[in-house]
Amino acid sequence: MFFSETACQIFFCSSLFMNYRYNSLSLLRKTKKTSMSAIVSEDIRKVTTSRLMEMKQRGEKISMLTAYDFSMAQIIDQAGMDVILVGDSASNVMAGNVTTLPITLDQMIYHGKSVVKAVKRALVVVDLPFGSYQGDSKEALKSAIRVMKETHADCIKIEGGAEIRESIERILCAGIPIMGHLGLTPQSINKFGTYVVRAREEEEAKKLIKDAHLLEELGCFGIVVEKIPATLASRVASELRIPIIGIGAGGGVDGQVLVMHDMLGINREFSPRFLRRYANLYEMILQAVQSYIVDVKKRDFPNEKEQY
Ligand code: KIV
Repeated sequence: MFFSETACQIFFCSSLFMNYRYNSLSLLRKTKKTSMSAIVSEDIRKVTTSRLMEMKQRGEKISMLTAYDFSMAQIIDQAGMDVILVGDSASNVMAGNVTTLPITLDQMIYHGKSVVKAVKRALVVVDLPFGSYQGDSKEALKSAIRVMKETHADCIKIEGGAEIRESIERILCAGIPIMGHLGLTPQSINKFGTYVVRAREEEEAKKLIKDAHLLEELGCFGIVVEKIPATLASRVASELRIPIIGIGAGGGVDGQVLVMHDMLGINREFSPRFLRRYANLYEMILQAVQSYIVDVKKRDFPNEKEQY
């Protein structure tokens, strides 16, 4: 069988990575006499909103990552992710828009459906997109019901605090669990005018703390806090009983969320300080695709064994 040089490199790198992961995990098992469940949960039960609360109570950090399609959601779920977010960041990474504003409810439902079909264990959260819940609480309820009925997701996420109180109350009354989102709320980017860290100033920090308490009192099961000072985020996490999941909010919160394309290195342009890249898929995919092109041009692909 013919293997191009790049394909071999990719294979070699992935085996190295797998070996490294296997070795470090078995080493951890041997040295600390701990099971793998200390790192990635072996609990195959479906993650629920109440199990997230239990995780917070026992001090277990919650892992959360975005996904927008069946194939990637399947891998992320099998890896043992606790929460999969069908984020409206699909507008950026899937549809190529500059902001999250253009994505529609129908498009979010399409992504939500694809993800839910793949997921067996993780809690699936679907973002309500811009314009589907802010203006009118009855409209908000309709949007949330459509997401729940059509995607079969477990819950929804919406951005904002006191301003969207009525929508939150109405959605919760219908039995739909809500995850809040405070701090740098990307659907309000035009109001902020910049992606810099939010709530550095006392007034904004006070409002964020008040909003976080309000969301908990209303009955939200968790809150994402995005791009705020670490001290503020850990204060919120320690004052609230519900889990606080951070992105660019430091390590003092109850869990972390990242956008899948960013942490896998599919995006090259986006490099905020809070982002840790776990792979360089842009380069790997580029090289693999170039190898395929070369093989086709050279008439190396397909070979005799790759045909009927
Ligand atoms: O849409 C999204 O990906 C998000 C995360 C940044 C939390 O809301």
